[in-house]
Amino acid sequence: MTQADAQRELWDARYSHPNNYYGYRPNDFLVTAEVMLRRESRLLVLGDGEGRNGVWLAQKGHHVTTVDLSVVGVNKAKDLAIERNVSVDAHVGDLATWLDEPAAQGPWDGIVWIFLHLQPQLRQSVAQTLTERLAPQGKLIMEAYTPAQLTLGTGGPSDEQVLMTRERVLADWPGLDLDVRLTERRIFEGMGHQGLGSVLQVLGQRKKG
Ligand SMILES: C[S@@+](CC[C@H](N)C(=O)[O-])C[C@H]1O[C@@H](n2cnc3c(N)ncnc32)[C@H](O)[C@@H]1O
Repeated sequence: MTQADAQRELWDARYSHPNNYYGYRPNDFLVTAEVMLRRESRLLVLGDGEGRNGVWLAQKGHHVTTVDLSVVGVNKAKDLAIERNVSVDAHVGDLATWLDEPAAQGPWDGIVWIFLHLQPQLRQSVAQTLTERLAPQGKLIMEAYTPAQLTLGTGGPSDEQVLMTRERVLADWPGLDLDVRLTERRIFEGMGHQGLGSVLQVLGQRKKG
C-alpha cells in the first residue's frame, strides 16, 4: 500500500462518522483572513476535507474549487454545499498528481491551506507550482500546526516533518510577501481539534514582478 493509499484510508474512515469530524463551522483564522480577499475571488482550497471551509467561502460569494484525497470527505462537502444552496467545484484528488488536472490550472486569486500537513517534498512542490498560478497580488491563507503541538495532544499529526515552522513556510513560498505569526490558541473544531493548539498563521501575497 502506498503512503497516499494509507492516508486515503485513514481520512475515509474518520469522515465515515455521521457527524463532521472537524465540525460545520469554518476555521476561525480563515474567517478573520477572508476580509483581505477581493469580492468574488477565484479560490483553490487544498485538503478541504468535509468542506466546512470551502462551502463557507462559497457562501461569502467566492468562486471555490476544492480538492481532497478522501472520497467520503468530498461527498460530504458536496452534500453540505447543496444543503447551503451554494456551488463548489469539489474534486477528489491527490495533490501529488491532481495539480496537473485542467481544474487546477487557475489563475487563482487565493490559495487556502487549513490544517493540511504534507510531507516536505510534496509540500514544497505544491507551493512552487501554485506560486506560479497565483494571479498578480494573489493571496495565501494558511493555518497549520507547529512542532510544539506534539506535546499538547489536542489534535494534529504526530510526524514532526509535516508540521509547519516559520523557516519552512519562508523557504516554501519565496515568491510571496509573507506575514507569519506563531501563536497558541484554543481550537474547538468538531471532534478532531479540541483545546489549546500551537499554530502557524500565514497571510501571503504574490510579489509584484
Ligand atoms: C486535518 S484534515 C483538514 C481538513 C480541512 N482542511 C479542515 O480544516 O476541515 C487534512 C485533510 O487533508 C487531506 N489530504 C492529506 N493529504 C492530501 C493530499 N496529498 N492531497 C489531497 N488532500 C490531502 C486529507 O484527506 C484531509 O481531509
